[in-house]
Amino acid sequence: MEFNERNLADRLSEKRIGNNIQFFKEVESTNDVASRLAKSGAPEGTVVIADCQTKGKGRLKRQWQSPPGCNIYTSIVLRPAIDPMFAPQITLMTGVAVADLLSVYCPENVTLKWPNDVQIRGRKVCGILTEMSASAAKGVDFIIVGIGINVNIERVDFDESFRDIATSLKEEAGSEISRLDLTVKLFDNLENVYTRMLAEGFGFLKDMWLRYSDMVGKRIQVVFNDDVQAGEVLGIDDFGALIIADENDVIRRVMAGDASIVKE
Ligand code: BTN
Repeated sequence: MEFNERNLADRLSEKRIGNNIQFFKEVESTNDVASRLAKSGAPEGTVVIADCQTKGKGRLKRQWQSPPGCNIYTSIVLRPAIDPMFAPQITLMTGVAVADLLSVYCPENVTLKWPNDVQIRGRKVCGILTEMSASAAKGVDFIIVGIGINVNIERVDFDESFRDIATSLKEEAGSEISRLDLTVKLFDNLENVYTRMLAEGFGFLKDMWLRYSDMVGKRIQVVFNDDVQAGEVLGIDDFGALIIADENDVIRRVMAGDASIVKE
């Protein structure tokens, strides 16, 4: 079945996430389109999906490679009644929803890398870019959850600089995967964890996130601009920070950066 608005709408009409679908052949960035829609009042659960992006955005102002016909690029409008300081929980929640989804195809091989990468056999298959609009007075107005999943892209089509560190679901599962099915299941998973998080809080998600992470107990380093922090990973906290113990056993909270496991 073709990956288009009508086929998605047929399967998502009853849902909290996906009740309002905006499908595009090409956009600059689905996050930017979703932000504009949210600013003009789009309801929670509105999703923007594009077949390709010409200015796909990654974390830390990087680009997200977004060719047509093979991958998923989507952004979801959420309006949770949470304190803005807890917004990173939404990123971690999304990582868990994607990890659950991809584990169906590649059981045992999916890991989460703080703060927002989903990996299969140690290679990045999905990135998440969460952007928030909030004010001190009103709290969270909206959060845009941007998700890019490398679904059927071939290894040779990755930019050379990513070829050794990225992968696609097809590459790992061994066969082409329907973007339509995957997108429907993605929104379903997200709806389940989001609804449960609003009802029960972050605790169960933290446990799930830690089960998927391959970092706990390992020595890592986190690079952010010119700053490098190193230590053993103890876990994450309710604000989405990575908790590490440095070489003097001082406990530190790391808020942002690129984490990698130090090979001993
Ligand atoms: C990262 O790992 O750096 C985050 C990548 C996020 C990419 C997705 S693709 C859909 C959405 N629109 C964007 O411009 N970026 C996100």
